[in-house]
Amino acid sequence: MGPPGVGKSTQAARLKDRLGLLHISTGDVLRWHIAERSPLGLAAHAYMHRGELVPDELVTQMTLSHVLSPDGAHGVLLDGFPGTTGQAHALDAALATRGRAIDAVFYLTAPAEMLIQRLAGRRICLDCRATYHLETMPARVSDVCDGCGERLLPRNDDSRHTAWRRLTAHPGQTRPLVDRYTHAGVLHRIDGRGAAAEVTARLLTALHATGLGESGKEVRRATG
Ligand code: AP5
Repeated sequence: MGPPGVGKSTQAARLKDRLGLLHISTGDVLRWHIAERSPLGLAAHAYMHRGELVPDELVTQMTLSHVLSPDGAHGVLLDGFPGTTGQAHALDAALATRGRAIDAVFYLTAPAEMLIQRLAGRRICLDCRATYHLETMPARVSDVCDGCGERLLPRNDDSRHTAWRRLTAHPGQTRPLVDRYTHAGVLHRIDGRGAAAEVTARLLTALHATGLGESGKEVRRATG
């Protein structure tokens, strides 16, 4: 969890292989549906364009089908889900059907001016979903993905107006979830400032403090 631009996707990409977890980014899955012009993508597009949450009934089923898939049997790293208490209820219920539960929730934080700077310079690869930043994480060749060679573009919802709407809506949207996971004793606040490697090190330290290991063998359930 964490506000737009704090580095959730960047950190998830760095941790997923190391922890042996399936990474599920609701934002990426929704953007894929929009690019494919699927019925879900067509329904979600207007909400995302306005910087609003997509309704629970569209997001929940889509995400839980990945969580409960065979690929997620050894544990999942959720990025952007749950985004509402309705989604959190549905996630708990779905995990319980497999005797699983949330192990840890990481809440990344950074000052607003840093979030704005990160969103303004973000570039993404529409093909392999890799994330770059014009200043802090540039591609080797300008506007070309290092991994797959496709063109890099800004995200539609990173325009100044939409990014601002997402940033200002975030605290109110996530407060009930922060309360829920604090009460459950699984929430860890992580400082998202500094280089990506420093933030990864903080996340791994917090993960180890929960008694969960780094091999993936011990991280079998759900980490958000
Ligand atoms: P989503 O894609 O999840 O967007 P978000 O939550 O707003 O988060 P972002 O992807 O903007 O930021 P991030 O924290 O992943 O940062 P990143 O790693 O890219 O969702 C988009 C939309 O989909 C939502 O608005 C909503 O409409 C819908 N949606 C998604 N989930 C939903 C749900 N559950 N329910 C309903 N609707 C949902 O990093 C940002 C930039 O900073 C990059 O350029 C990166 O290179 C750079 N950077 C990262 N870390 C560092 C660092 N340590 N130092 C320097 N630069 C860094």
